[in-house]
Amino acid sequence: MRPHVSTNVPEAVTFIRLPDETKLAELRVRKLVEQTCRRKAVAVPVFLLGNFGRMLDERGTAAMEINNFKDMYLAELQELVSVESQLADALLRMAGAATHPALKDLLIHHRAETETQKQRLVTILQKHGADPAAHTDQAMQALVKETRKMLGMLTGDDLRDAGLLASAQKLEHYEIAAYGTAAALAGQLDLRDEQKMLHRTLDEEKQIDTLLTQLAKREVNPDALAA
Ligand SMILES: [Fe+2]
Repeated sequence: MRPHVSTNVPEAVTFIRLPDETKLAELRVRKLVEQTCRRKAVAVPVFLLGNFGRMLDERGTAAMEINNFKDMYLAELQELVSVESQLADALLRMAGAATHPALKDLLIHHRAETETQKQRLVTILQKHGADPAAHTDQAMQALVKETRKMLGMLTGDDLRDAGLLASAQKLEHYEIAAYGTAAALAGQLDLRDEQKMLHRTLDEEKQIDTLLTQLAKREVNPDALAA
């Protein structure tokens, strides 16, 4: 039976559902995935769904199989380690590019928090015997890339500061979503201490977001508008 391939989703994200469990079908799907990627000429996340429950990465290579709730939770934490690592680098560059003193200070302050947050994740993962470096978060890679692209387009210090602040909030909102999810999964697993640690980080992310909003409204955006 031919695997069903649906491509009517935005930005070439292709979902493929396997109709049966034969190796032949899996190989055929993999070939279709590779052809689709080549035709669209973009690096896209490709998910192979269905009875195999297996994911393919953007090169069509089979990724790790996750078949229980706890492993899914640990994979979320591994993604978050990658998020924090990428964010630490990005915040350093963003602080270097910022000219508004309060914005620069906030970015530097949050970079220090990011290191602590990453360490919390590593502590939890090590407790479970899971490798903290097992995953790379591709969503964060894309957000950081967008930030870099936006900064390259903005001219003038005030406008660049406003763009930096807006980008920082997008990165924070992604973290808030990811930590909210991870804390909820910890709760479902009745891992209360870990849920508390994740909530602590979540509160810090929300706090920095609030401070960024205040700074944007009171100073950075009005300055950029007046420039
Ligand atoms: Fe963080």
